[in-house]
Amino acid sequence: MPSQHVVIVGGSSGVGLATASQLLGLGFNVTITGRDMKRLVQARDTLRGAARAIVMDGADAESVRSGFADIGNFDHLVVALSGARGGGPFASVEISEVRGGFEQKVFPHFATAQAALPFLPSDGSITFVSAVSAQAAFPGTAGLASANAAIEALVPVLAVELKPMRVNCVSPGVIDTPWWDFLPEEQRKAAFAEYAMKTPVGRVGQAEDIAKAITFLVSNSFMSGHTIVCDGGLRLAA
Ligand SMILES: NC(=O)c1ccc[n+]([C@@H]2O[C@H](COP(=O)([O-])OP(=O)(O)OC[C@H]3O[C@@H](n4cnc5c(N)ncnc54)[C@H](OP(=O)(O)O)[C@@H]3O)[C@@H](O)[C@H]2O)c1
Repeated sequence: MPSQHVVIVGGSSGVGLATASQLLGLGFNVTITGRDMKRLVQARDTLRGAARAIVMDGADAESVRSGFADIGNFDHLVVALSGARGGGPFASVEISEVRGGFEQKVFPHFATAQAALPFLPSDGSITFVSAVSAQAAFPGTAGLASANAAIEALVPVLAVELKPMRVNCVSPGVIDTPWWDFLPEEQRKAAFAEYAMKTPVGRVGQAEDIAKAITFLVSNSFMSGHTIVCDGGLRLAA
């Protein structure tokens, strides 16, 4: 049987890149996508095994259309692209920020999965990546929680509507990836130390932790309609 092909939207960094590495190690063919070719090539060069790199902006309909047309048929889609907007206390967060959060993450997840359908086989799969804000009750995350919960709400609906295609999601806790690079190093270290203390397993996550959960969902053909919360128990500490 020929190797199955996985396309990872948001595969040039963090969780997506770690997933590419694990899937290549298991013998999958992998295509990583992101908005920046230089970043994609740098990421691809860190991988053992031949991955393809395609520029695709999940927030731009034409880029998504031409990206999938370029890739052609494949077996599994992983949507790991990130967003960061929408945080802040409920009483004062600007609706434009909340809308920005949906535009950065929810609509691109929806749009890339929709545009991928003609290229996916009926026994293929889609795996989304949400965030534990959807399960926890952290003050100041109403916008983030509602965006990530919107992605998770797609999962059971699509698992039934698109059957027998499988549709799943992984909801990460706090993970040490370049997503946190907006913080200066000292602040980042302090934030991770605080989250590690709050997290029952006593540490923040690594991209590889989430990649293992995604790889499980991609490769286990009896998994559908699930969101796996992979957070070291952080949701319980809210
Ligand atoms: N890190 C955490 O603590 C954490 C916690 C909970 C949930 N998550 C979720 O986990 C997922 C992966 O995050 P991460 O930590 O791995 O972030 P990351 O290291 O910042 O990686 C994000 C990836 O997405 C790509 N990307 C961003 N916007 C894109 C777009 N519009 N179209 C296509 N690609 C895009 C980025 O490349 P370009 O910028 O070059 O396009 C990059 O490859 C995200 O959904 C994030 O919300 C992360």
